Amino acid sequence: MVFLNGLMLPLEEAKISVLDRGFLLGDGVYEVIPAYGGRLFRLEQHLQRLQNSLDAIRIDNPYTNDEWTRILSELIAQGGNADQSVYLQVTRGVAAKRDHAFPHEVKPTVFAMSNPIPPLTDELLLQGIAAITLDDIRWQRCDIKAITLLANAMLRQQAHDEGAAEAILIKDGHAIEGAASNLFIVSNGTIITPPKSSHLLPGVTRDLVLELAAQHGLEYAERAIPEQELSQASEIWLTSSTKEILPVTTLNQQAVGDGKPGLVWHRMIDLYRQYKQQLRNGAE
Ligand code: PDD
Repeated sequence: MVFLNGLMLPLEEAKISVLDRGFLLGDGVYEVIPAYGGRLFRLEQHLQRLQNSLDAIRIDNPYTNDEWTRILSELIAQGGNADQSVYLQVTRGVAAKRDHAFPHEVKPTVFAMSNPIPPLTDELLLQGIAAITLDDIRWQRCDIKAITLLANAMLRQQAHDEGAAEAILIKDGHAIEGAASNLFIVSNGTIITPPKSSHLLPGVTRDLVLELAAQHGLEYAERAIPEQELSQASEIWLTSSTKEILPVTTLNQQAVGDGKPGLVWHRMIDLYRQYKQQLRNGAE
């Protein structure tokens, strides 16, 4: 069952108008929220980011946080205790005709579904992933979690075409983030990630990694990462709600560090998994 405009429906019955501005113009925003052991992960932070995205594009939030919590909880209840990710999107809705300017008095279209998160295999975690660098061809408001993802899709596809799992995007000589992930490097023992700005998505996983680093006394910094520093980093990680913290072991066909997931990554993924386990066990 999926959620569409107030109703729980079988997927095949969930239909929207071809005049929906999400369909015609990519005029909408989304969230991806993991759930572990039947509990939504960092829900408050995801709902705050949703609010920020909606505010940025001037759509009124169709639900209160309590209503969202009820809807999303009902969706994940279908999957029991399995690891899942909830996808939700809000578009501006269906206007009478296609016009770029925002129409008046349209009702947002709200869609949500839940899917299992495939477990990350030990092989993947032991070997890490390959990434390539590509020019960041996206727009100037990457802080909005917009459904308009053509540039991200093209960049990810180019990475796949070149045998890599993700593209790390370069803007004005600096590494920014992945096509669908945030970027961390380890340089001289310090964990570094670019500061929040309109050039990148403020990732919920990113914030948790920084919180865990602070709590456990690991050296970290939020600062710009010149492209050259990326290529010389001893470790590179990519974070997202569905992939957690992926170690990049090959960048542009060259080994990162010794070509294996690094020591600092091992420490951080342990902390992250402990945090997840506490959530499964009922901690907030
Ligand atoms: N993407 N940067 C971009 C461009 C992203 O698309 C994502 C996540 C992130 C990581 O954010 P978070 O840790 O809050 O998931 C960073 C989701 C998973 C997606 O588009 O499917």
